[in-house]
This record gives sequence, structure tokens and C-alpha cells, in this order.
Amino acid sequence: MAHPQGSAFWDRALAWRDRTLASAKFRRWAAAFALTRPLARRRARALFDLCAGFVYSQILAACVQVRLFDMLSEGPQTAADLAPRLGLPLDGAERLLAAAVALQLAERRSFGRYGLGVLGAAMVDNAAVTEMVKHHAMLYADLRDPVALLRGQQPSGALAAYWPYAAYNNPSGLPGGQIADYTALMAASQPLVSDEILNAYPLGRHRCLLDLGGGDGTFLRRVAERVPNLQLILFDLPPVAARAEARFASAGLGQRARAVGGDFRQGTLPQGADVASLVRVIHDHDDATARAILRAAYRALPPRGTLLLAEPMAATPGAEPAGDAYFGFYLMAMGRGRPRSAAELTAMLNDAGFIEVRQVRTSTPLLTSLIVARRDGAAAGV
Ligand SMILES: C[S@@+](CC[C@H](N)C(=O)[O-])C[C@H]1O[C@@H](n2cnc3c(N)ncnc32)[C@H](O)[C@@H]1O
Repeated sequence: MAHPQGSAFWDRALAWRDRTLASAKFRRWAAAFALTRPLARRRARALFDLCAGFVYSQILAACVQVRLFDMLSEGPQTAADLAPRLGLPLDGAERLLAAAVALQLAERRSFGRYGLGVLGAAMVDNAAVTEMVKHHAMLYADLRDPVALLRGQQPSGALAAYWPYAAYNNPSGLPGGQIADYTALMAASQPLVSDEILNAYPLGRHRCLLDLGGGDGTFLRRVAERVPNLQLILFDLPPVAARAEARFASAGLGQRARAVGGDFRQGTLPQGADVASLVRVIHDHDDATARAILRAAYRALPPRGTLLLAEPMAATPGAEPAGDAYFGFYLMAMGRGRPRSAAELTAMLNDAGFIEVRQVRTSTPLLTSLIVARRDGAAAGV
């Protein structure tokens, strides 16, 4: 509940509420009394959902693994029709379908058939969420003992190995084989964020965009479609930049886009852009590295150049489960980085020399928030 910070009155009111709800006697009374029953049920349901969240995720993972949504997208079918196609015995298919119906992933239709539910329909042709769901197997393995991670124990390593740059002293020396999986996942999930950013900040008045940590160039290819005359430069680790270069060539963007390989924590970044972007980059890094990247972005821009910083942020109203809960624990399991609030990022940007830092509203802050900042007017290299 929002309340004026430091208000002793609210502290006392909340303490009273906590004492009341903590009483098993009160909870029994509230569940039985007609006026409080709906509220008590909602609260019980919310708590149950928290307890059961892992099971729900595994049901979704099973649906993805057996390609249930692809099959239901062909039209309603019975469990008996679906079972052999899903590679499941009939009772397994029925159990999965019942669970999927309960979670709105599937729906019962006439003549004992099943169709897509509203959430299942949203999974069809949705490579972004499908790939995220698949790679969660590693996350859940790493989160087996969350308290050990909170106590500072090193994660067991599945995610750290998946994102090797996070813990690597010399990431620009990473071989191509170690960047392939995460680069493909980022490319698959990039459509979730690119239009969010471009709708919020259309880039039309700029001349050249430098995308730092730009992956295989999926974001810049979308920018190229939407902003016809913008020149594009991508910077990423050498094997990732090589992939981007090949993608730009096959998309016919050779004249407009180029990719440069290197380490943004050291050395010089490509010069010449009037706007730079950091999309889903800063939250991967601990504070010292995050600050070094922001300083490097500052040096790459001309006086009054613009920086876009887009990622899920902590303390975002309405998106707290994504920023503070999901990314808070995901990045802990990965072994580096943390979600930061817009206020923290603003302070870090100011420290790096950026001014006029403002948050620009995106339509789905659960996916990404956006900060736009301007480099101060000091001469380049200062
Ligand atoms: C989470 S991915 C985001 C990719 C892309 N911006 C997107 O949103 O799809 C982070 C990117 O930063 C790159 N990266 C990590 N450490 C780097 C470093 N030291 N120098 C340059 N790029 C780095 C990674 O290779 C990866 O492509």
C-alpha cells in the first residue's frame, strides 16, 4: 500500500493490519463473515498462487515441451486424438489438459474436445515467451536453494555458464560457441522490447544510433525498418558482433549498419553516433562495471548526445513482480548484476556526466522501462 514515507500514523495503521491478519482466529472469522468473505477468498487465492507458482510454471513448461499450443492452434481436438501427437499416454494427456484448462492455457470445447485458452492463444507463434520458458529449466535448477544464494554462496552454475560474460574477466576472448545460446535467446525475446522502446522514443530526429551490447542486431534491424534514414552501429563482444555483421549483410543493410567487436568495459567505443542505446545491458552488471559502461557511453557521444537506457527496472509501479522479484532473483542466480530503480539509474547517469535524465513511459513496464538522458556539453573525451 502506498503511504507517505516516514509517516508514524501509517506505520501504526499497518502494524495494526499485520497483527489482525496474522491472527488465525481473525482469518477464520473473515472467511465465514459474508462481508469479508470475498476479500478473504482473494487473499487466500493470492497466497495459494504464490505457493503453487512453481507448479504452474512447470505446467506451462510441459505444454511448451510437447508443443500443445501448436497442436491446439489447428483446431479443437479430443484428449484421445492429442495423446499420441503429444507423445503422452492418454491419462498423462488428460492430466496435462485439465491443468492447462485450470490455468487458461486451454479450454473445454463441445464434444469433449479442447481448444486454446486465452493465455494458450497468446503462446502461439510466440518464440519470445516460448524460448524464455524453455531456458527456465536452468534458472529453477540454480534457485533450488535460494537462501544459500542470498547468503552469498556462489550459484551452482547453470545460468552463469549460459551467460559467460557475466563472470568472465576477459569477455572479449569468449569463443563463438559460448555466446550462441544466449545470443539466440536474446534475439528471440527482443521483439518483446523493441517496439516498446521505439513507440516511446521514435528516434526520428537522430542521425546515427550506436547500440551497445546490441546482440545479433535484432533491435537495430527493427530500428532500420521503422526509422528509414538512421545510420546504425552495433557494439558487442567480437563473436557476437560477427553474427550481427552477417545478419546486417543478409538483411541488405550493409550500407546503413555495421558491427564492431570489443569490450565496452575497456578500450574505445566507435565514435560518430548522436544517440546511443543500452538495451537490457546494465542490469547484468555489478555497480562498478555498470558505471564503467555508462562512462564509456558518455565518451562515445558528442556534447548534447542522447543516451537511451531500456531494461526492466526495480520499484516500477505495477511491475514490481518483474523488476524486484523475477529479475532480482534471476540475476542473483546468474551471479552478477541487479535490477535498479529509475532513481538509482538516474543517480548513476548523473555521476557519469549525463544531464536532463528523464523516464519516458512505455506501454508495458513489465517488459521494459526507458530512461532518456543527455550528455552534458563538455568537450569530447573529458
Ligand atoms: C542481455 S544481452 C542484451 C542483448 C540486446 N541488447 C538485447 O536486448 O537483445 C547483453 C549483451 O551485452 C553483451 N556484452 C556483455 N558483456 C560485454 C562486454 N564486456 N563488452 C561488450 N558487450 C558485452 C553480450 O554479449 C550481450 O549481447
